[in-house]
Amino acid sequence: MVILEATRLGKIYGGKAGKPATQALENVSFSLKKGEFVGIMGPSGSGKTTLLNLISTIDRPTTGKVIINNQDISALKGEQLASFRRKELGFIFQDFNLLDTLTIEENIALPLVIGKVPYKVLTKKVSEVAKALGISEVLPKYPYEVSGGEQQRAAAARAIVHDPALILADEPTGNLDSKSSKDLMEALKGLNLNQSTILMVTHDPFVASYCQRILFIHDGKLYTQIQSGDNRQAFFQQILDVLSMLGGSVSELTKNRL
Ligand SMILES: Nc1ncnc2c1ncn2[C@@H]1O[C@H](COP(=O)(O)OP(=O)(O)O)[C@@H](O)[C@H]1O
Ligand SMILES: [Mg+2]
Repeated sequence: MVILEATRLGKIYGGKAGKPATQALENVSFSLKKGEFVGIMGPSGSGKTTLLNLISTIDRPTTGKVIINNQDISALKGEQLASFRRKELGFIFQDFNLLDTLTIEENIALPLVIGKVPYKVLTKKVSEVAKALGISEVLPKYPYEVSGGEQQRAAAARAIVHDPALILADEPTGNLDSKSSKDLMEALKGLNLNQSTILMVTHDPFVASYCQRILFIHDGKLYTQIQSGDNRQAFFQQILDVLSMLGGSVSELTKNRL
């Protein structure tokens, strides 16, 4: 079953009122099947965030279209769009975006509260996802009382708790140390084994090696795709090879981490 279908997506910024136009994205097509865990990589400024924003309904494409769960999202406006986003999408951001005044448990429960899910179902669902992500112990705590890694796993729990069609993550490990990054990726892999569909932007080849497939973007165009086999070490090496072809810099940090 196809969850996401992006067809000939293009995005031009500016070009009005005498401002120069930037073609941030050009003719990008790909699709995601249910249960796939796919990464997006590419040099800085290549259009990764633009692509994610078009898929997440935060921004609209100049050309092309996006279909999520059989719904053409360009046809949605206002409250319909907001409701679609709440139901069908889960977001994980680089800076966690948890609410400081709510406990971890309340943060995770938010999408269910907004969706008016009965209290009994809500508490059961929250404790299930917290267990799956290894954060059951920190549920009563506030975000400032737990580690960055735990905060990000709480954010992942919040992204999945309402069973969205698609989870979108933009550099989810950008503010995490390597141990917490690894824990988060193991957690996302666990969610993915339960048939969650995940699309994640990352510049970190180690983090990307957890994906089943990587789309490489260069100068706003789809440059190539690679598919993982059974061996993550080999996939990691393949990712490094494509990045070096793209001229992306591979930091010392990301080496020797497997
Ligand atoms: N809101 C915007 N207005 C104008 N140009 C933008 C805007 N957002 C991104 N760009 C430009 O589009 C290109 C792609 O940016 P972006 O998608 O953020 O790349 P990445 O996430 O891969 O670093 C860059 O040249 C960037 O400067
Ligand atoms: Mg970006």
